Amino acid sequence: MDESEQATNIFETGGIFANRELLRVGHVPELERVVGRDDEVSSIGQALGPATIGGPPETTIVYGKTGAGKSLVARCVAREAHTEAEANEVEFQHAYVDCSDYQTETKASREMGRQLVANLHADVEIPRVGIAAADYRDITWDLLDEHSVDSFVVILDEIDKLDDDELLRSLSRARESGKSETHIGAICISNKIEYRDRLNERLDSSLQDNELVFDPYDADQLREILANRTDAFEDGVLNTDVIPKVAALSAKEHGDARKAIDTLYEAGRLAEKDGTDTVTIDHVDDAVKRAEANRFEKLVSGTTPHVKYILRALALLTADNPEREAFRTHRVYTLYTKLAEREGAEPLSEDRVYRLLKEQSFLGVTESNHTGGGQGEGSYLEHRLLRDPEIIVEALDNS
Ligand SMILES: Nc1ncnc2c1ncn2[C@@H]1O[C@H](COP(=O)(O)OP(=O)(O)OP(=O)(O)O)[C@@H](O)[C@H]1O
Ligand SMILES: [Mg+2]
Repeated sequence: MDESEQATNIFETGGIFANRELLRVGHVPELERVVGRDDEVSSIGQALGPATIGGPPETTIVYGKTGAGKSLVARCVAREAHTEAEANEVEFQHAYVDCSDYQTETKASREMGRQLVANLHADVEIPRVGIAAADYRDITWDLLDEHSVDSFVVILDEIDKLDDDELLRSLSRARESGKSETHIGAICISNKIEYRDRLNERLDSSLQDNELVFDPYDADQLREILANRTDAFEDGVLNTDVIPKVAALSAKEHGDARKAIDTLYEAGRLAEKDGTDTVTIDHVDDAVKRAEANRFEKLVSGTTPHVKYILRALALLTADNPEREAFRTHRVYTLYTKLAEREGAEPLSEDRVYRLLKEQSFLGVTESNHTGGGQGEGSYLEHRLLRDPEIIVEALDNS
């Protein structure tokens, strides 16, 4: 063996993942890999059914919490509709517009047109700027007619991010207003259930009939979703208790499949970093802690150094006094003063710290409650940390 062969491969990827793509965001699995959404798949299938035989698709509005599979099911069913339409010799097209990337009427309309051009391999240049939303739509209607498209479905994902409803209105009226011969429909998706009232107020009642709500996944469904992706890992790498653990944790947090998949992926990455050949539930625990620390880090990164000293003081008190849950302002203040001085900062007044602590409860990591003292003591404020102090300290160290 010569020297170069002995040198360690700096690009070594470890023996954990066989196909990490299966666990990455944005991956749209085949319909067969979609678990526990049979009813939702058939409802959207029924809405798109007429379009696969050259008729009018029904517009559908989909609600549900984050990670409930809304985008996935809509995209999978639309893809399936293509295949079905092809078999029926019907010209079906669809466009997928994520309105969080295209938040204005103009940008979303342009994106719809751009995708249609790409899907039809049309020899048309869509101007980047300089024309109005309605012009982009006219380009789209013309394209549909020129290519004799029978049915066209636009998926408007995260539609609550869109600045107005004109695009949706024009989609539902393009045919009746004589702008296009094509049957046009939409699938509108939102994870903001509050958006429903706004949409209902503004839209024709005909659009309100097809409403679909995706319920959160339970632990069994999450387990199945994860089990369906174990081929992301090399054989025998995953300990058998890893998937049940991830599923149980995610079921507690509103059944978010995205979070479950992310946690599984992160656990794999941590095992890879450790250089071991098995993923264990310890890796899962670490992955969860790390995700929480990241979230918290983002939260505190925008706050002042004094807020950070205060949080650190409360976290240290919590860690050092496992028998206590909450601490009086004065106790937090005493430690805060030491921490601030250690960093060379001039401590704020006790009253200011008291008010900051009360305000910080918005970060969702502390809670302040009035507690009655003993006889004759009056009531005072106590502050409690709602998260694992270790995570808070780690996040503060990194922020
Ligand atoms: N039933 C399922 N079977 C397999 N994978 C799923 C299923 N549901 C969701 N997933 C996966 O979970 C992740 C989140 O799903 P999806 O993006 O569809 O959620 P969503 O409801 O659109 O959430 P958001 O409102 O945050 O956009 C995706 O990676 C998706 O592939
Ligand atoms: Mg989505």
